[in-house]
Amino acid sequence: MRIDLLSIFPDFFTTPLDEGIIRRARQARIIDIGIHNIRDYAEDRHQMTDDRPYGGGEGMVMKPEPLSACLRAVPRHGKRCRVILLSPRGVPFSQEQAQRYAGYGQLILICGRYEGVDERFTERFVDEECSIGDYVLSGGELAALVVTDAVCRLLPGALGCADSAERDSFSRSLLKHHQYTRPPVFEDMAVPADLLSGDHAAVARHRFVESVRLTLERRPDLLSGLSLSKDERKLLKENGLLCRIEQAVPARQAGHRA
Ligand code: ADE
Repeated sequence: MRIDLLSIFPDFFTTPLDEGIIRRARQARIIDIGIHNIRDYAEDRHQMTDDRPYGGGEGMVMKPEPLSACLRAVPRHGKRCRVILLSPRGVPFSQEQAQRYAGYGQLILICGRYEGVDERFTERFVDEECSIGDYVLSGGELAALVVTDAVCRLLPGALGCADSAERDSFSRSLLKHHQYTRPPVFEDMAVPADLLSGDHAAVARHRFVESVRLTLERRPDLLSGLSLSKDERKLLKENGLLCRIEQAVPARQAGHRA
C-alpha cells in the first residue's frame, strides 16, 4: 500500500513514521509513505497557503490552489486510490473504517489546518472526510498519523507473529483482555491461574470471558455488534455474563451465530 500525506508541516511526520511497526513495514516495503509539503505549491512569493474567509469571521481558510497543485503532483499508484481530508466534520474513524481503508491501494491523506479548507477544493478533489473524534485538534496531522498507524497494522505482514491484529480490541466488537507478564506475583497480586496453566484452550476461554467482562463494564455499546457461537454462549452463561449481555443489548440486536 502507498500512503501520501499532504501538510504544511511535513516535519511533523518524520519521527512518528520512523519508529516501531510503521518503520518495519516501510523497511519491508509493505507500506510506502510519501510526505508532501503543500507550501511548496503556493504560487505567491510569501508561499501563502491560507487566507481570510469570505463573509468575515475568525481565523484563516486554506486556499484551494496550493492544495490542488500539491494533490495533482502526487504520483497515482493504480485505480484503487482514495483521497481523504482529515477534518472534525468527517465520518468518525473506527476499526471498521481502518479495515476499509486498508483495502485501497493508495490513500492520500490531506491535513487541514486553521478554520478549514476552501469548500471548492473539497467538493472537487476529496472522496471523503474523516474525523478521529469529537474534539478539535490544531490540524489534521495527528489525525493522519492515527489513520496511518491503524491502517498499517492491518496490512498483511506488518505485525510480527507475536502480535496479531485479530486479537486487537474492536476487531470483534470486544475490548482486548488484560495482559500479564513475569513475575507471576507482583506485590500481593498474582497472575490469574488459567494463564499459567499451559492449557491453550483454558487460556483462550479465560481471555474471551475477560474480554466480554471488560466490554460490559467499559463499552457496553460495542456489544450490539457481537455475534456468539453456541460454545461461547454456554461459556458466558456459566460465568453469569450471558444475561448481562442480553440486558445491555436489546434482543433484536444481539447477534446469534450457529
Ligand atoms: N482536524 C482537527 N480536528 C480533527 C479531528 N478531530 N479529526 C480529524 N481531523 C481533525
